[in-house]
Amino acid sequence: MENTNVTNYRIAPSILSADFARLGEEVRDVIAAGADLIHFDVMDNHYVPNLTFGPMVCEALKPYATVPIDVHLMVEPVDDLIQSFAKAGADMITFHPEASRHVDRSLSLIKDAGCQAGLVLNPATPVYLLENVLERLDMVLLMSVNPGFGGQSFIPQTLVKIRQVRDLLDMYESESGRRIALEVDGGIKVDNIAAIADAGADTFVAGSAIFGQADYKAVIDQMRTALA
Ligand code: DX5
Ligand code: ZN
Repeated sequence: MENTNVTNYRIAPSILSADFARLGEEVRDVIAAGADLIHFDVMDNHYVPNLTFGPMVCEALKPYATVPIDVHLMVEPVDDLIQSFAKAGADMITFHPEASRHVDRSLSLIKDAGCQAGLVLNPATPVYLLENVLERLDMVLLMSVNPGFGGQSFIPQTLVKIRQVRDLLDMYESESGRRIALEVDGGIKVDNIAAIADAGADTFVAGSAIFGQADYKAVIDQMRTALA
């Protein structure tokens, strides 16, 4: 197996912690600072107890986003919004299986719209939910906090779950030849990103760690150094 090096890792700043009064500039600045993806947290005050932004904001930001937009849907139900976000310029769309009546159908909607598809597992959601839909997945997103808010602490038990999912995805890759990305979301900082990578993650969402500092490039560079 080829050794994972720094170029295989992707850093996905979550604009949940950006300045909402200047979102376009924030997206441009964090891409200039080295972001590989823009993580876009959609909350509906129903699936999670918080409310953020919808497809119109995604469409408005699309011209600023010269890297893929990674839409994380924390909404229930999901199917209508999948279609709206695909039209609004989403490149990847992930949702929580608890929020869809028909998970396989929702994944197909994402793929049919030409986007990469993924499932998001909350800290208490079991890994086996992935098993029957692996062929539909481009990515798995593991929550390392309970969804709804930025700035929470990384739940250490997630490291065990990352290893379990890594094993499952490696097994799938050896059978199918297709690699599924493993993204982790919540409480990721410069000082824990290496442990999260060692457990098997390749894509790292970070909101408050990046937007909470004045120099986004300094934080992203420190994260890459920690990964290297
Ligand atoms: C939480 C969101 C996260 C959040 C991460 O529901 O899905 O993407 O913004 O924020 P930090 O990095 O501050 O934990
Ligand atoms: Zn997220």
